[in-house]
Amino acid sequence: MTVESARSLADELRRSWAQFDLDELTSDAVKYLTAGTPTDWGLPSNPPSRVPPITLGSGIPDPASLPREPLIEAMKRALDTVDDGPLRYGGGVGFEPLRAELAARYTRDRGFPVTSDHFLLTNGSAGAIDQVCAALISPGDIVITEAPTFSGSIRTFRGHQAEVHTVPMDNDGMQVEHLEPLIKRLHAEGRKVKVIYTIASYHNPMGVTLAYERRVQLLQIASRYGIFVIDDDAYGELYFDVDKKPTALSAMSECEGVITVGTFSKVIATGLRVGWIHATPEVLDRVVRMRFEMGNSPLLHGMLYEFVKDGGLDRHLDHVRKIYRRKLEALTAALHEYCEPYVTWRRPGGGFFLWVSLTNGLDARKVQAVAIEEGFVFPGGFAFFPDRIDTGEHIRLAFSWASEDDLREAARRLAKACEIVANGGG
Ligand SMILES: Cc1ncc(COP(=O)(O)O)c(C=O)c1O
Repeated sequence: MTVESARSLADELRRSWAQFDLDELTSDAVKYLTAGTPTDWGLPSNPPSRVPPITLGSGIPDPASLPREPLIEAMKRALDTVDDGPLRYGGGVGFEPLRAELAARYTRDRGFPVTSDHFLLTNGSAGAIDQVCAALISPGDIVITEAPTFSGSIRTFRGHQAEVHTVPMDNDGMQVEHLEPLIKRLHAEGRKVKVIYTIASYHNPMGVTLAYERRVQLLQIASRYGIFVIDDDAYGELYFDVDKKPTALSAMSECEGVITVGTFSKVIATGLRVGWIHATPEVLDRVVRMRFEMGNSPLLHGMLYEFVKDGGLDRHLDHVRKIYRRKLEALTAALHEYCEPYVTWRRPGGGFFLWVSLTNGLDARKVQAVAIEEGFVFPGGFAFFPDRIDTGEHIRLAFSWASEDDLREAARRLAKACEIVANGGG
């Protein structure tokens, strides 16, 4: 084929394709999902800031904590095999030794003995939720989430054409007393409620933890109606006080009706893209049936196994927990110092996020807009409500990634923005 004839074929195809509308050819789901990042906070990609901006946006690990050298060494050990295992297709459930490591950790830390058959490795916890949805959700089914919740998961549920309904939150997590009336109403309308999605420990965005009594009630209500609980445990290992660590929903239920999703993203690095689903082998069997992308990288699984085993992950976790506790203290001390009349918050017991309430009727959207001009970028609380309806006074500050100096400077800039808005500016 000559260059000319190839070009004329392409021209002919372009004319032919021009008669079709892409929206008619793509799925129903893609039509009503807006373009944007998975988290979609409506923040400008080039903030119009007067000074180089500080961003307390995503929940990303501290950059200095990333264990580059140990991962290089772990990768070398993973590749040092006589066979071609790490460089061959790995299958739908993932590398057995890494699943066995996870099982040993869960058995040790959560009080219910499990085996590698209770774990399936995925493309991060976002991938885990996507795979669970593929196995559970048919178009039109209902997913109940907390409000607020992690905006990425709302996109996933809607991508599977589920309808999202919400239950409000307070400082003890999901207000479970709203669950049963909601379920009854939806059932009376002939709807199928398939999933209750919770971030029970160190919530994103609120930082709070579901109280023990509410955990019991959640499990009881869900079991009464045959609704799976997805416990998104992305931050569960990142507690600041081991004595106050909550009891895991998976252990309380012995995995009956509970599907836990976990990830190496927050405890090691988001770029790994390795997470897991923890559930009964029967549920995992349904998930594997819906897995068509031939599993994840056995090479990465091998590297992670080499990193995690023999206490490697425990040592790393001890180190990073201290970093995040220090960063939280730096941020809250600076908020006390600079922003006191304008903000209140409740100290989270772990995780990456501080949920800040603005006082004196300050509006989060206005403060956000002025703060961007002042060089401080953060999501407003409204971004985490599926219907985007918030009382308007919340902002979320992710303290994991920025340096302690930047956290202090961010608080100073926030105080300035609050002051401008309080004085009628913005
Ligand atoms: C609650 C929650 N779940 C899931 C994810 C996705 O993480 P992963 O990198 O494991 O896909 C995030 C990331 O911010 C999160 O905050």
